[in-house]
Amino acid sequence: MSPNQLPGHPHIAFLGDELFIEGLRLSDLAHQYGTPLFVYSKAAMLSALAAYQRGFAGRKARICYAMKANSTLGVLQVFAQAGCGFDIVSGGELERVLAAGGQAEDIIFSGAGKTRAEMRQALQAGIGCFNVESEAELEVLSQVASEMGKVAPVSIRVNPDVDPKTHPYISTGLKGNKFGVPHESSLRAYQRAASLPGLKVKGIDCHIGSQITEEAPYLDAMDRVLDMVEAVEAAGIMLEHIDFGGGLGIDYQGDQPPAADALWAKLLAKLDARGFGQRMLMIEPGRSLVGNAGVCVTEVLYIKPGEQKNFCIVDAAMNDLPRPAMYQAYHAITAVRRTQQAAQTYDVVGPVCESGDWLGRDRELAVGPGDLLAVLSAGAYCMSMASNYNTRGRAAEVLVDADRAVLIRERETAADQMRGERLAFGPRT
Ligand code: LLP
Repeated sequence: MSPNQLPGHPHIAFLGDELFIEGLRLSDLAHQYGTPLFVYSKAAMLSALAAYQRGFAGRKARICYAMKANSTLGVLQVFAQAGCGFDIVSGGELERVLAAGGQAEDIIFSGAGKTRAEMRQALQAGIGCFNVESEAELEVLSQVASEMGKVAPVSIRVNPDVDPKTHPYISTGLKGNKFGVPHESSLRAYQRAASLPGLKVKGIDCHIGSQITEEAPYLDAMDRVLDMVEAVEAAGIMLEHIDFGGGLGIDYQGDQPPAADALWAKLLAKLDARGFGQRMLMIEPGRSLVGNAGVCVTEVLYIKPGEQKNFCIVDAAMNDLPRPAMYQAYHAITAVRRTQQAAQTYDVVGPVCESGDWLGRDRELAVGPGDLLAVLSAGAYCMSMASNYNTRGRAAEVLVDADRAVLIRERETAADQMRGERLAFGPRT
């Protein structure tokens, strides 16, 4: 790899001393739209998607983008226009897909705590499938659908009890997790689903975790899911589709996850060997489609030398980029313009009043006040997890397509944040 390229970021690279995203300088975008600023490459999203599409060539498959990774309308539109379906987890996400031009029948609805109102909303819209996560949810969904004179298409999320070898907060397929129906009771859940008047069994579903960088957990989970398909079908309940969830990791810090097409070549070989290669396949990737398509550009406010640590205080914070504070996650950070200045070691921190408000620790950077930094791998689980803590407005977002930039989210104002709030009392007399 040339020293101008950034690991894992095919469409973000240095040209001379300036960092570019596709055909545009990040420093120009920061000056035009202000900071902190999320900038996404459309080509990077589409090339990540293309790896899955190559993997599924000649198969019956649907890629449902797990929009919790980044649910901004302009991002959803890229995937809707590329023919993706969507994996949603709330009524709000359903509204976003429809607003972005997605089709209801291409939506699957995951999540362990769907409310009756959300079920009604999704049935009314005519979504493709509910991924049901408990026996209690089956009962409620059947009741809600029957009351509406409808039949809900369902798949059951089975918990295969495999260790995805990732951060405990983002591993979901182990026995101790709140997700899915335990392997041992899945058959009973299917029999119950098949007997309920408001449900039509469509498929099976699993998702074992996120930021998975090894292929073994996927292959193990596939075996367990196929064992379950055999058991369910032996009981006379046919399954049209197999949904294999999301979870494929990205390169944050020299991570080497399998490429989507290479991983799927192995999974498809297993499906073929066990006679399931012609089933309708579905997947729910999130991070691997958007994570390395985005950066967050932030301005250095102050350099604060200390006895034990030097701090580089920037205008982005844990409310914009919560992953370091929440998971001690590593995001690479680079200056947007290379200089001959000597580098120093800094903790890169934000303005929020918490010691946990850091973006990177012990980073070698050659920067001073007014310089711009890019926090890398910021396309997934950053803006979609952003908050207004400290009454900080959420950042603006720009989508770049070749040499064109579109502002897809305006910077949030204090007035935006206060909309909907009321003073409790009249003026004091
Ligand atoms: N399907 C289901 C049912 C999920 O729960 C998830 C993610 C996905 C698909 C997409 O997984 P992905 O392909 O993005 O790994 N906030 C955490 C990640 C939480 C993931 C939650 N579920 C983070 O920033 O690392």
